[in-house]
Amino acid sequence: MSRFFLMGLLMLILGPTATGVAQAADGEKLFQFYCAQCHGTEGKGDGPNVTGDFPVDPRNFTETAEMNKLSDADIRNVIIDGGPIADKSPMMPPWGKTLNDDEVEALVQHLRQLCNCTGKAG
Ligand code: HEC
Repeated sequence: MSRFFLMGLLMLILGPTATGVAQAADGEKLFQFYCAQCHGTEGKGDGPNVTGDFPVDPRNFTETAEMNKLSDADIRNVIIDGGPIADKSPMMPPWGKTLNDDEVEALVQHLRQLCNCTGKAG
């Protein structure tokens, strides 16, 4: 009886903490896995995939002024539907079939950390 009580207590204490940590780490992890090859590990648009014949440079996410022109919804749409949804290059692939909403949201938050900006409203 007391053992079950203890386990329940442990889960109560550890449960929220564990998920909180996992979520905070996700954006960074997802970015390194899916985005860094083009956008660079630090988001500067200089990933190893970007060769001389890349028609456009991937966005440098550390450019605060440029990133402030985008709302969270703008970023979300480009991640889900790819560059062409925002009149950008198809070199930016759509991720809507690869990533779920939580993952896209974690990436938006990660980009906001990289640009150190909040973006325009809406
Ligand atoms: C195959 C290379 C490639 C990969 C992988 C890639 N991107 Fe991009 N991304 C680009 C390019 C190129 C552009 C610039 C398109 C343009 O400016 O026309 C871009 C643009 C963007 C923009 C739009 C910025 C703006 O100014 O509107 C966002 C947001 C973005 N990428 C997020 C991501 C995220 C998040 C990931 C990972 C899930 C990712 N990208 C993976 C190539 C890539």
